[in-house]
Amino acid sequence: MATGSANLNVMIKAARKAARGLVRDFGEVENLQVSMKGAGDFVSRADIKAEATIKETLMEARPAYSWLAEEGGAEKGADGMHRWIVDPLDGTTNFLHGLPHWAVSIALERKGEIIAAVVYDPAKDEMFTAEKGSGAWMNDRRLRVSGRREFIEMIFATGVPFANSLNLPQTLKELAHLMPRCAGVRRWGAAALDLAYVAAGRYDGFWERGIQPWDVAAGALLVKEAGGLVGPLDDAVDPIGQGCVIAANAEVFERFGEVLASAK
Ligand code: IPD
Ligand code: CA
Repeated sequence: MATGSANLNVMIKAARKAARGLVRDFGEVENLQVSMKGAGDFVSRADIKAEATIKETLMEARPAYSWLAEEGGAEKGADGMHRWIVDPLDGTTNFLHGLPHWAVSIALERKGEIIAAVVYDPAKDEMFTAEKGSGAWMNDRRLRVSGRREFIEMIFATGVPFANSLNLPQTLKELAHLMPRCAGVRRWGAAALDLAYVAAGRYDGFWERGIQPWDVAAGALLVKEAGGLVGPLDDAVDPIGQGCVIAANAEVFERFGEVLASAK
């Protein structure tokens, strides 16, 4: 990895520390699956603990920064310019079901723009990092979005809404429209990793509606710093704040948006 700023280093430290606890808890989850009570409460405690670990580490280094996280919500700090945006456990449903595909996601925003990002997948020991202007990295390897040009060879990722989400019918239409035109669509259940995989050239594009800032803030910078494009969907203007995001390599970005838009 390129030498990171002090902020990036503290983000990496926080992600690794939280991940150690999560990995221990993940080991317990399998045993809990068979219990009558199930693993739900246990996982939500693991999530809250991970967020507390991250907050302690980040706030010790930068006590004045503002804060936005999945579990604890928003807190305004004395420094109104900087804000940490944190998802301590992205891919909670995977974690709960014993599927080793989940991540810690931490972004740093300055004056409304994401300037540093960490997405850490402990199961595969893949640390995705980026800083504005310094490229995107996975461990020691510089990332580049895919160079594919033929739509029929491309793989896309999305999050199919569940539990009666209003976005489900539209997503199903898009899947029906997109799937015959490409090499496949994946729904792996962790948006931060979906975006990291676009940055790594593993996926050619990603889209999702009804998603939260902590799901996409870090991943969006990874994609941009790997040479890809990130934008809003539908009538939204801000892909991070309004939760309707599309990301892809620059070759296919426009076409991908058109294919989705024509799914009526
Ligand atoms: C979820 C995951 C999932 C996406 C959902 C998110 P969580 O986050 O990123 O892939 O489809 O929209 O809410 O609940 O696992 O932190
Ligand atoms: Ca999430």
